[in-house]
Parts: sequence; structure tokens; C-alpha cells
Amino acid sequence: MQDKTITPPTAISLLRWYDKHGRADLPWRRHGGRAETAYHTWIAEIMLQQTMVAAVIPYYERFMKRWPRVSDLAAADLDEVLSMWAGLGYYARARNLHRCAQVVTEQYDGEFPADAEELKKLPGIGDYTAASVSAIAYDRYAIVVDGNIERVMSRLFLIDEPVNQPTGKALVKADAARLWPTQRSGDFAQALMDLGAMVCTPKDPKCNLCPWQKNCKAFATGRMNEFPVKIKTKVNKPRYALAFIVTDSKGQVLLQQRPASGLLGGLWDVPTTPWQETRWAKSAKSMVFAPSGQALDWQKLPGTVRHVFSHFPLEITVYKAIWSGPKKPLDPGGQFSDAKIQWAGASELPALSNLMQKVLTHARDNA
Ligand code: ADE
Ligand code: SF4
Repeated sequence: MQDKTITPPTAISLLRWYDKHGRADLPWRRHGGRAETAYHTWIAEIMLQQTMVAAVIPYYERFMKRWPRVSDLAAADLDEVLSMWAGLGYYARARNLHRCAQVVTEQYDGEFPADAEELKKLPGIGDYTAASVSAIAYDRYAIVVDGNIERVMSRLFLIDEPVNQPTGKALVKADAARLWPTQRSGDFAQALMDLGAMVCTPKDPKCNLCPWQKNCKAFATGRMNEFPVKIKTKVNKPRYALAFIVTDSKGQVLLQQRPASGLLGGLWDVPTTPWQETRWAKSAKSMVFAPSGQALDWQKLPGTVRHVFSHFPLEITVYKAIWSGPKKPLDPGGQFSDAKIQWAGASELPALSNLMQKVLTHARDNA
């Protein structure tokens, strides 16, 4: 066992590298590598879990401007939170974010707990977020493992178990623990992330710039590109849907709000059929989208829109029609009779998923 009161030399060399070359300009590191409050760290880490740093930055900035304190987010309207989240994907995260802000405000007096086990009791906080907030915001000793850190560890120690399986994950964590310092635990976590993002990159790592080159087993044997080992998770069957873009003479488009549960729950879409594992028959369009009293003249757009969710690809065929009848009362009919609907102009679109942005772009490109 390593003596936990002494920072091991490997940790010192990485921290030194981080002080010189780390991404100190990231907005959640404005205060000497630390975020302003644990609230800031938490927002950043939730956003960073499935989304690249560059894409997260503008979202993070907008969130912090709109809701500077956790109590502001707690008091926000869920629809607005979803709308500010739109484009980041995984909308359950946005709902949990809102609930978590309320719990912290009401039950923790607006202060996130520092202890990882205590953090894990909060909505939407799992192992990763608990460890990263505890380490980065409070400088507690906590082993943080993300994709970057997995890659670095698997190369340093030639971990030949797949890192996306429980055994491999346990090995990564145990190896990280051998290196992890008790001092500057949060900086060490972020240093590892930066090393993974800037130097120990997925393809052709820049080992000549690496402070750990002489400690690294992959480098010693020239096997950097063989790690990390991953097993292919099976890709589920593709799903299919039809989407219906209905515009009026002024170019306003008909939108419906998706039910609160489900993958894109609560976001606004053009009406679509459910996503099913077989292709839709051509005739399905008039069955599933039947505006009352209107015989719409559907035009099928060429090609399809594809979107890959984490577990399955979705292929959407897009139909377009012009609506000329009265708009109120508006009853889209068919299975949409219960849906919340609205007409929106191009400049007043509500929270749209990445998927829906693709559908609208496809329609614009094929106008
Ligand atoms: N990825 C996840 N957390 C991060 C952080 N704090 N800094 C940079 N990249 C990250
Ligand atoms: Fe990664 Fe190369 Fe450094 Fe090893 S020496 S940790 S492979 S960058």
C-alpha cells in the first residue's frame, strides 16, 4: 500500500505538467483550477459526461448566466431548463438536474455535500459525478474515472481486460488508486483528463510530450494503439419513423410536445410516428397523421434523416405538406389528438432536440 500522506513522484510529475500545460482557461476552472462553487463543478461534470468539452462550454456559460446559484436553478421552470439543455442530449439528465437543484436548495441549505457517498444520494449523481464533485470542488480524496482516465491507465499498465466491462473497470480503478495523491486530488483528476485529451489521445498519442513516458508500459513496448481494449457492445436493431412537417402560408411549422417520459421527453418535435423496428408502409402516413377535415397533399422528401442514439440508430422519412385550413381549433387527429401542439415561426422555435434540428435542416435543404 502506498503511504497516503506522501505524494508519489509519478503524481508530482503529472501535477507539474498540469500546472504548466493544463487547460486553465476552461470556464469551470476559473478560480485556480477550481470552479466558483460546487454547484458550478456539478453542472460542468454533468454536462461533460456525455458531451465533448468544446460543445459543453457555451451551454455551461449560458446556464451560469441564467442561473448563477443552485437556488436559481431550483426555482426555474422545468420547460426552460429543458430548452436550455436542448442539443446536449440525454434529457433525463436535465430533469434530474432540476430535481437535484431543488433537493440541495431545500434539504442541504443550498450547499452540495462534500462527501462522495452523501452526494450519491442526490438525483442524477452516480459514482462519476460524486467522485468528481468531491475531488474537484472540495479537494477530497476520491478516485475519478472517465473515458480519458481509462485510456491513460490501460496504457500505463497494459490492462488487457476490456475497460467497458466490470473486471476492466475495477482494474482501471485499482491502478488509478495506486497513483492517486491525497494532496490536490481534484487537480490530479483534471490533470489526468487533460493528459488524456491533449497527449494520451485515442489515436497516435503524443508520447514525446508525456510526463509519464518513462513509467508507461505501452510506450516501452510500442503498443499504445492497442489500448484501451474494449468489447463491442452490440448495436441494437435500427428503428424507423415518419416525420411530418406541416407549414402554413407564412412558414410557421406545426410542433407537438413529446410526452414527458421517454428518450426526448418534454421536447418539441414536428409530429412523428412512434419509432418501430420495421419500416413504415407508405400508406401509414395518412393513418397516423390525419388532421381533421384536411386532405393534405403530402410530399415525400428525398433521402432520410439518420440519428444514432447510444443504443440504436433511427432512420426517419420526412413528409411535407402545406396547411391552408383554419388553425383554430386545431386538431391534428389520429394519435396526436392528445398532444400539446403549437405553430411556431423559424425565429421562435422552442427546445428542439438534435434529432429535430436534423429533420428541419433536411427539410430546408430539400425545399
Ligand atoms: N471532462 C470531464 N470533466 C472534465 C473537467 N473537469 N475538465 C475537463 N474535461 C472534463
Ligand atoms: Fe499515454 Fe504515451 Fe504517456 Fe503512455 S507515454 S501515458 S501511451 S501518452
